[in-house]
Amino acid sequence: MKVAIINGSPKLRESASQLLAEAVQKKLGNQTECAICSPIGPEGSEILKKIEGANALVFVFPLYIDGLPSHLLRFLDESLQDISDKASGAMVYSIVNNGFFEGRQNAVAFEIMRNFADKAGLKWGQGIGVGGGGMLRSVGIGRGPLKKVGNTLDLLSKNIINARSAQNYTVDPDFPRALYIAVAHLSWRASARKNKVNSKQMLVKP
Ligand SMILES: Cc1cc2nc3c(=O)[nH]c(=O)nc-3n(C[C@H](O)[C@H](O)[C@H](O)COP(=O)(O)O)c2cc1C
Repeated sequence: MKVAIINGSPKLRESASQLLAEAVQKKLGNQTECAICSPIGPEGSEILKKIEGANALVFVFPLYIDGLPSHLLRFLDESLQDISDKASGAMVYSIVNNGFFEGRQNAVAFEIMRNFADKAGLKWGQGIGVGGGGMLRSVGIGRGPLKKVGNTLDLLSKNIINARSAQNYTVDPDFPRALYIAVAHLSWRASARKNKVNSKQMLVKP
């Protein structure tokens, strides 16, 4: 079985999506031929080769304004026919992570991806929404407050291996929401200071 994991984060390094993609790759590793690719970066032009012959496409990306990052949307739009031809019959899965605490924020992105699958003549598999994206890199998937995220990826991996469709599912960190928000504010203020922006300037509307 061939699985192509498409990292749709515009960050070329240190993205939460890369971590999620690697976690799924590890879970699928022994039983499938599984590669991670991206529509951007040095290997961006090779992506259609990586997708060719895949039985499952797993799109892993951050939520941007309740939707998809624009480069990913453009890739899906421009490559619809190629994806449909090269991965004909593939199942489409999506793992969407977002900065707000609640993973259910990703519901609209699931619908966008389901529409893409329909339009490409592919079968929708499942959407997984992961809230609290800001914690993914600091804690480690499958550990402590992110244990449920690891368990969710286990279930998704089983669905991928069995070419099964399943209900979309969203998961939040096992962590106090108010504390997550407080830590986010602290880290934004620290980045603002680092970039010589004061609190008044942060609130100026463009
Ligand atoms: C332009 C932009 C728009 C975003 N829009 C949302 C949003 O609508 N809802 C949300 O919860 N997080 C939003 N975020 C936060 C990202 O989804 C979050 O930081 C995510 O963990 C980044 O994942 P990545 O490291 O894989 O790129 C946005 C971030 C950016 C830069």
